[in-house]
Parts: sequence; C-alpha cells; structure tokens
Amino acid sequence: MSIPAQTSTLDPLAVLRGLASLRKLAGSYPAGHPMIAQKLRELDEVIAGLLRSGSPVRIDVIRGDVFLDGVTSTSDHHANQQLLSQLSALGVDSIHIHDGVQRGELLAVAEFLWQYTESSDSMAAQLAARNVQHISLGRLLPLDTRWRAQQWADAPTGPLDPDYAESLMMAQKTWEDTASGKPLDVVTVRDLVQLLIYKVARSNAALGQILAVKQYENLTYCHSVNVAMLSLLLGKQVGLDESTLAALVEAALLHDVGKTQIPLEIVRKPGALDKSERRMIEAHTTLGAEILIQTEGLQPLTPVVALEHHRGVKGTGYPDLGNAIPNPMSQIVSVADIYEAITGARTYQAPTPPDRACLILARMAGEKLNTGLVKTFVNAITFFPIGSLVRTNRNELGLVVQTNQREPLHPVLALVDEDTYKPTRQVDTSERESSGGYARHIMQSLPAPDGLDLRVFLEAA
Ligand SMILES: [Fe+2]
Ligand SMILES: [Fe+2]
Repeated sequence: MSIPAQTSTLDPLAVLRGLASLRKLAGSYPAGHPMIAQKLRELDEVIAGLLRSGSPVRIDVIRGDVFLDGVTSTSDHHANQQLLSQLSALGVDSIHIHDGVQRGELLAVAEFLWQYTESSDSMAAQLAARNVQHISLGRLLPLDTRWRAQQWADAPTGPLDPDYAESLMMAQKTWEDTASGKPLDVVTVRDLVQLLIYKVARSNAALGQILAVKQYENLTYCHSVNVAMLSLLLGKQVGLDESTLAALVEAALLHDVGKTQIPLEIVRKPGALDKSERRMIEAHTTLGAEILIQTEGLQPLTPVVALEHHRGVKGTGYPDLGNAIPNPMSQIVSVADIYEAITGARTYQAPTPPDRACLILARMAGEKLNTGLVKTFVNAITFFPIGSLVRTNRNELGLVVQTNQREPLHPVLALVDEDTYKPTRQVDTSERESSGGYARHIMQSLPAPDGLDLRVFLEAA
C-alpha cells in the first residue's frame, strides 16, 4: 500500500495525531470496530514509512516542541497545541517505536493511554504486561507552561558548601544593586570569579549541589553562579588556558545580567508569555550586552556572550544577527545554560534529573548546540553526576560519590538509610558478578528529599 503523502515530510505529528485519535476511538468504540481498524491501518502505514529509514522512530516533546530523532519538527506547533496538551496531560512526552512493531502493539498502547492512571508500576512495566515490546513511552518533562504553578523556596535550602554559599550571596547583592539602577560592581564580579575558580570549583560538595537538580526557584543570581561553574567545568575539559577560563567564568556569570532590567513578574511568570512579554524576555540579551559594554574593566568577550547565548550554532535563535555563528565562548555558555535551566526548578517547571537533562542536550546537539561541546559536557558530568540520588535495581537508595571515568553509567554510591538519611556503606556499581554481568544497575535518578545533607556523604567519600 502506498504511503500517505504526509509521511514523505517525516512529520512526527502524524504519529502523535494518529495515536491520539486511536486512543480516543479505542476508548469510545468496542474492540474490533471498523473505525478502530481503519485508524490502526493508517497509523501503521505512517510508522512503516518512518521506520523505512532503518532506525527507530524517536519522537520527543521538549518544551512544547516536537522532535523527530532529535530534530525539531517543521510543522506549525501552534495548530497542534491541543494535541500536545492532550498527550502532556497523559504524562507522555516521548514515544520510541522500533522496527518490528505490530498493529496489536499500537492498539495496546492506545488503550493503555486511554486507561492509564498513576500506579506504582512503571509505564514500562505496564506496557510489558500488555505485551508491548517495540514501543516505549516516556514520562512528561513537566516543562509545560500550562502546568499548575508550583511554589518553590526562593533560594537553595539545606546546608550549602560555605564557598558556594558565599558566592551566591555576592551574586545576589550584585544583581540586586544592578536591578536597582546602580552600575555593575566590577570589583565584586572579579572577586566572585576568583572565588568560583579557586574555591568553589575545588569543592566536590559544591559541584554536587550545582549538578544535581535544584529544588528551589532558581532565580537569576543562582542560575548565573551555577552556569559560571558549569562553563568552567566544560572550559577545562576542552583545554582552555587559565586566563581564557577566567574570561569565560566572568562572561558566564554575567550572561543573563540583562534580566535585572526586566520585571521579576515576567521573568517568573508561570503561564505562556504573550508576544510583547516574550519580546521583553528576549531583550535580556541585548540589554545585558548594553550594560556590559558600558561597564569598564570587563573582558572584551563578556558582552558578546550576553548577546549571543540564545543563538544556535546554525545561526538560529535570538536576537536576530543574520547567519552569524556564535563565538566559541558563547557556545560553551549555551550548553551550561540549558543544562542548568532544565535541572533547575521554575514556577512553571519541576527540575529534570541530570540523566534526562543530558538526553535533552544530546537532542539539541548539531542544531542548536555544538555537538563536540555537548559530548564533552555529558562525558564530564556523566549521566549520574556526583551528588545525584539514584535507585538501583536492588531497590537501594544511593548517592553518587564518585564517577567511573570508563563507565559513566556505573558510579560509586554511598547507600542511604531511608529512615535516617545517613550513609550506610559504599558500593561500586561497576563491579561485576561471577557471571560477568553487573551486580547493580542504576534504574532512575531521584530528587533529593528534604533532610538529606549531601555534605555528610560527599565529605566522607
Ligand atoms: Fe539567557
Ligand atoms: Fe541563562
């Protein structure tokens, strides 16, 4: 049978649309109804067309954009907002379909989506129980602005690494002063850069706190300090010399300084932004560059990074600067910025675990982000960075205290007593059993609960 015309454009929305209507039909008509059979046939054809390329079909909805195999769809998303919100409401943001998929599996997934309710079994387990082997569904990243607004603490809670805490305080004061119309305090900025490079970067506990998810409203000053540290991490990995690293940290620290000129209610606004609000937010790049150009004593690239950090490596993004490719420093800050933003909480967004965040970066590589930098960054922080809380296949709760360079998926854990949140013993998840298989796998990363003091674990490690 010929492939419907829309599949020639490889439109991932055709799959989503097909699945959404199949789900509705499966919920409204008895099994075997001709309408179900018809829809199933259509969907199967669309998927067969996509699978013909030889690789699995990977559809991901990231921040309301639909990606097919990591490439954003060219379709008009706004026209499909309703469909996306239906899927979002079901908690599905990623659908991966493998070669060999049967119509019965498509139907089982559609029925599952119709009946799905939160249960203690994972989605994967529930699909497996329905004999679905070629389709996997991922949970929604709650990044959607339609999501119910959350209230988060305004600043990191719990004991912080002292140098990190001091750097946050310095940044907060600098930002507040700038927001109130005072000139940017270059001396404090310089001190802050030194503090970050020579103290905070040497603290495992601080790095752990920066790399893990942030369960607080990640306001601009925290975000900026974190982005500076992550940029430093990446800059070191790509072998920048010391003076370039210092320039990079300064630029990263000040990349969002333009946000001090935008009303906080807009920066924190939970709902979708209208056109003029979006324009205002986007202006933080040019506003920042203007402030930084007028400030004497800064590095020459600092305003450039503020201007370019929302521009992609293919010349997309904002502000419109034609086809200009961002400076390598801006490209480094972009990677750190996006990782930090998605692992941080916002009024409208729960934080995303590091491994998920790495996946999102990987999907943006090549289009928006520099592929080499993304790879280096992901390798550097590993999928389970120090400080992340994970659960093993033996149902143990553990905190990553050491990463294994050669086996990024198998770090060393300090196991956590789930009643007291105290460390019990260390296990190396890269150890193998006599059969040759790993003794432990990490099943998922989890947000750190209140009362878990990272320092107790990391200082003991
Ligand atoms: Fe920004
Ligand atoms: Fe930013």
